[in-house]
Amino acid sequence: MVSIHSKWRYIFMFLGIQLVVMALLSREGYQKRMSYFIRIFRKTDATLGRNHTGAGLTGGDVYANLSHLSKAHIHGDDLPYCPKTSPLISGPIHVSFPSGLTLEEVQRRNPLVVRGGRYRPPNCDARHRTAIIIPHRHREHHLKFLLYYLHPLLQRQQLQYGIYIIHQAGNYTFNRAKLMNVGFREAMREEDWDCLFFHDVDLIPEDDRNTYVCDSNPKHAAIAMDKFGYKLPYKMYFGGVSALTPLHYLKMNGFPNNYWGWGGEDDDIGVRVSLAGMYITRPSLKVGRYKMIKHKLDKGNDVNPKRFNMLAKTRQTWKLDGMNTAEYETISWQYLPLYTNITVNIGTEEVQHVTVVEDFLHQKINRAHSDE
Ligand SMILES: *[C@@H]1O[C@H](CO)[C@@H](O)[C@H](O)[C@H]1NC(C)=O
Ligand SMILES: *[C@@H]1O[C@H](CO)[C@@H](O)[C@H](O)[C@H]1NC(C)=O
Ligand SMILES: *[C@@H]1O[C@H](CO)[C@@H](O)[C@H](O)[C@H]1NC(C)=O
Ligand SMILES: *[C@@H]1O[C@H](CO)[C@@H](O)[C@H](O)[C@H]1NC(C)=O
Repeated sequence: MVSIHSKWRYIFMFLGIQLVVMALLSREGYQKRMSYFIRIFRKTDATLGRNHTGAGLTGGDVYANLSHLSKAHIHGDDLPYCPKTSPLISGPIHVSFPSGLTLEEVQRRNPLVVRGGRYRPPNCDARHRTAIIIPHRHREHHLKFLLYYLHPLLQRQQLQYGIYIIHQAGNYTFNRAKLMNVGFREAMREEDWDCLFFHDVDLIPEDDRNTYVCDSNPKHAAIAMDKFGYKLPYKMYFGGVSALTPLHYLKMNGFPNNYWGWGGEDDDIGVRVSLAGMYITRPSLKVGRYKMIKHKLDKGNDVNPKRFNMLAKTRQTWKLDGMNTAEYETISWQYLPLYTNITVNIGTEEVQHVTVVEDFLHQKINRAHSDE
């Protein structure tokens, strides 16, 4: 969409920034947030001259240590506990996105993964049971790469795990946080997981020392994304990949159900953590590295223009909206070789209350965003 004259584009971008700044000034730590937003708008030129791959160039093959594991030991009842630190872990992983990758290939390389995307170590009894929850719609291309890297990484960590895709039925605006509420409830209904990883489909972990295990407090695992120059964009950031125990999750009444469209819900979740009397833990910058698969803003996931208004009210709303009010209808449940696919109808936004000005800015910000 190049129809708009570039002078106007910058004016609209400027208006967009103004809006963001006004909203942020009322929140703590605005200086850090400012530099984060400035970085986003400079992203295109900033990343050009840099080595985007970072550790990727030196990282190892994520499948390297798995070849000697075999089915031979499986079904043993008296297996010893796995060691506290897995001997299969080896650090940075080389991440690239070859165009010819297929799900069949991923399946072939992960022979010990069983129906529904489940795994348990063949030669020891796992100390941790982790469910991966991935909100999803029309991103099969990204999912393929995530599965290619995530399955072997979790096996290297000697976890017992399962991968759940929560697929939003229909074409209505995407609602990431509500899908995670669904994922939590459905996964816990099926098995007694002791940790849940809420995982964006387009983020690939680049280091297997980033263990998919919960901490004593909610953990934000995606601390260093290539998109933000491998730094934390701002202190309260809780987006991308996070890990909570069932107890953490219930303590903060899960995630909000009313963030339709892109943005805001991750900050709301971060605020909920502290309102519930907990704090955010993180792995080190060296270890919590993720590479984002590049893409345009999805259809049906426009920027949510109301996000700042809603965020300002989290303190009043968190107990009234969350896990306790998540309503949905399960449409189908498929156990596929590499993941469990749960399709749900999560309904639509109840109150449509977008003022003319908000709508106008929304379109402009959105355009600026997809032009990045
Ligand atoms: C990127 O990394 C490669 C290999 O480490 C190096 O040869 C090259 O000079 C780097 N390029 C930049 C722009 O830093
Ligand atoms: C795992 O791989 C690393 C190198 O990538 C190697 O140094 C280590 O010995 C391997 N461990 C096992 C148990 O195979
Ligand atoms: C959703 O959109 C796709 C094309 O973008 C269309 O093929 C499909 O029929 C739509 N589904 C519904 C339920 O409207
Ligand atoms: C999940 O199941 C739904 C309903 O059968 C299907 O439309 C969708 O493509 C599936 N998604 C994935 C990622 O398998």
